[in-house]
Amino acid sequence: MSAPTDVSPSLISTLPGLSYTDPELFRQEQERIFEARWVAAVRSADLDGPGTFRTVDVGRENVIVVRGRDGLLRAFLNVCRHRGARVCMERSGVARRNIQCGYHAWTYGLDGKLVAAPNLNQMPDVDRGDYGLVPVPLREWLGYAWVCVADEPPSFEDTVVGAVDERLGGAT
Ligand code: FES
Repeated sequence: MSAPTDVSPSLISTLPGLSYTDPELFRQEQERIFEARWVAAVRSADLDGPGTFRTVDVGRENVIVVRGRDGLLRAFLNVCRHRGARVCMERSGVARRNIQCGYHAWTYGLDGKLVAAPNLNQMPDVDRGDYGLVPVPLREWLGYAWVCVADEPPSFEDTVVGAVDERLGGAT
């Protein structure tokens, strides 16, 4: 049985079913929208103390948003710099002092810096300053932490603030 194809002229027709199921369209959507633009990732108020964190999918990436001991929110790719495991497996929680990868215990500060790793002092060529979590640009606005995983993020002012102002008639 198939759905009727004739649509009243005053109704906007829906997308074809393939738009909802085609893996290639899904990939393009992730790449061109969610991985290319700023995304409202979490409500700032939900991360209300040092070490509180959320992990969120942004396109095909997973991002940790965490509040530091200095009160600032930061975002990082949820990818360990050792062997690429997912560092933080929980959707939310509180990291007391650090974030530790469960695979081989590389340990990162709330600011993303690598603070400890087993046998690190036996690897003189590994500079811990080079192996922090990869930061993701983050902006707080309208009560949300916005992140962008694009290599070259578009202007937040133009593409978010400007667009919201336009749609809400300058209400922000
Ligand atoms: S992959 Fe994270 S410590 Fe090895």
